[in-house]
Amino acid sequence: MKILVVTGSPRKGGNSDIFADAFIEGALSAGNEVRRIDAGRATIAGCKACEYCITHGGECVQKDDMQDFYDDLCWAELTVYAFPMYFYTYPAQIKAFMDRQFCAIGGKPINFNKVALLLAFEDKDPSTADGLIRSFEIVMNYCHAEIVKIIMQNGVYEKGAIIGKPGLDEARAFGASLS
Ligand SMILES: Cc1cc2nc3c(=O)[nH]c(=O)nc-3n(C[C@H](O)[C@H](O)[C@H](O)COP(=O)(O)O)c2cc1C
Repeated sequence: MKILVVTGSPRKGGNSDIFADAFIEGALSAGNEVRRIDAGRATIAGCKACEYCITHGGECVQKDDMQDFYDDLCWAELTVYAFPMYFYTYPAQIKAFMDRQFCAIGGKPINFNKVALLLAFEDKDPSTADGLIRSFEIVMNYCHAEIVKIIMQNGVYEKGAIIGKPGLDEARAFGASLS
């Protein structure tokens, strides 16, 4: 399977990166092809709503790091997001990455087939992620994408706190189950 992993934390080597690494380890062990985008550390501006893409075959007018990522989004059969919860929703970096897929409306052949989410956050109460999860479901439904898995690991704040938590094994097993 052609799998694209999109990480969304600005913190290099943090919990989302470790989450993504575990998933990738499993996915590669099962013979899948994996590409990775570290969107949380890329320079991606928000959508300008200029609608240039609508009159230019899906091409985005903004020439920042997002331009490097469209080919991967069109290539992927499964896109796996791995990001932290910020103020009970998406990190701004991931929101910009998602908004810049607006150019699919203009004709960019982004592959919205299947998606999954690996979500790391601090709160002891997992239900505090309900709003983010609901938003993710509505967005993916709008994009006609099927959500194949959501793995949450709460109770993790410091860099590396996710090590030894059950979510990591779940992410690795999920990766290994794909083909
Ligand atoms: C700006 C900011 C906002 C955050 N907001 C929340 C929050 O609303 N709820 C929560 O449980 N954790 C929150 N956290 C904690 C992170 O989700 C947590 O530390 C996560 O493990 C970070 O993942 P990372 O190591 O991949 O960056 C916040 C952290 C930051 C830096």
